Amino acid sequence: MSESKRNYKKVTTNSLQEIKKNGDKISMLTAYDYTLAKIIDEAGIDIILVGDSASNVMAGHETTLPITLEQMIYHASSVVRAVNRALVVVDMPFGTYQGNPIKALNSAIRIMKETGGHSIKLEGGSEIIESVKKIISAGIPVMGHLGLTPQSIYKFGTYTVRAKEEEEAQKLISDAKLLEEAGCFGIVLEKIPAKLAQEITKNLSIPVIGIGAGSQVDGQVLVLHDMLGMNHDFNPRFLRRYLNLYDEITTGVKKYISDVKNSDFPNKDEQY
Ligand code: KIV
Repeated sequence: MSESKRNYKKVTTNSLQEIKKNGDKISMLTAYDYTLAKIIDEAGIDIILVGDSASNVMAGHETTLPITLEQMIYHASSVVRAVNRALVVVDMPFGTYQGNPIKALNSAIRIMKETGGHSIKLEGGSEIIESVKKIISAGIPVMGHLGLTPQSIYKFGTYTVRAKEEEEAQKLISDAKLLEEAGCFGIVLEKIPAKLAQEITKNLSIPVIGIGAGSQVDGQVLVLHDMLGMNHDFNPRFLRRYLNLYDEITTGVKKYISDVKNSDFPNKDEQY
């Protein structure tokens, strides 16, 4: 068994580096609450991302922009209480790090102090590199996020595949290098051509985790609620559904309603 396939008692940024070096893959999922974080941690996931996708998934917002630092801290601290093994990465929400490295550092310190999370993630390349360096200078591990960066949705105007044109692809390649040089421990690449993701992964020594970035990266991340099939209305090509919980939950709830209405629940054994 390769070193990285041994069952890490605790996944650290060093373990991720080791997994990449050994040519093995890293598994990553989102979680926003104690109960689901506990299940996926006990199932053996390597990284749990407390994503700002909580803004969509938990709060029903159309974009990730409205979620606040306080709300992210609430979600992340719930997740951290559940986790024994996985590395917990917490997204820095929109408006807490762009354009001001000192504000970025203070936001990151609040996340680390108030959640017990192990690292933070932020979106962007050269535009936010001073914030990345400032946070890393305080000893906080940083994960980058390039490609389709949902906090910039109003700049892009669409959730379509990024970096299909040469100019954007070249900027992505140089941003990835910049983030590695600044000391990031890993990078998420979202919704970019598989070939470009492969090239970036080959050129970096830090792990690259893809979502809609093909198979030639060091690991994969999905939004937990999407891969469990808890919704019907989000169907990007990259999404594989492992369960159909929307239908399972609907069946269970319908049966409960019918049992209550028909006085089948509770029965004699289910009362005191
Ligand atoms: O917030 C999130 O869920 C993310 C993943 C899509 C990578 O950033």
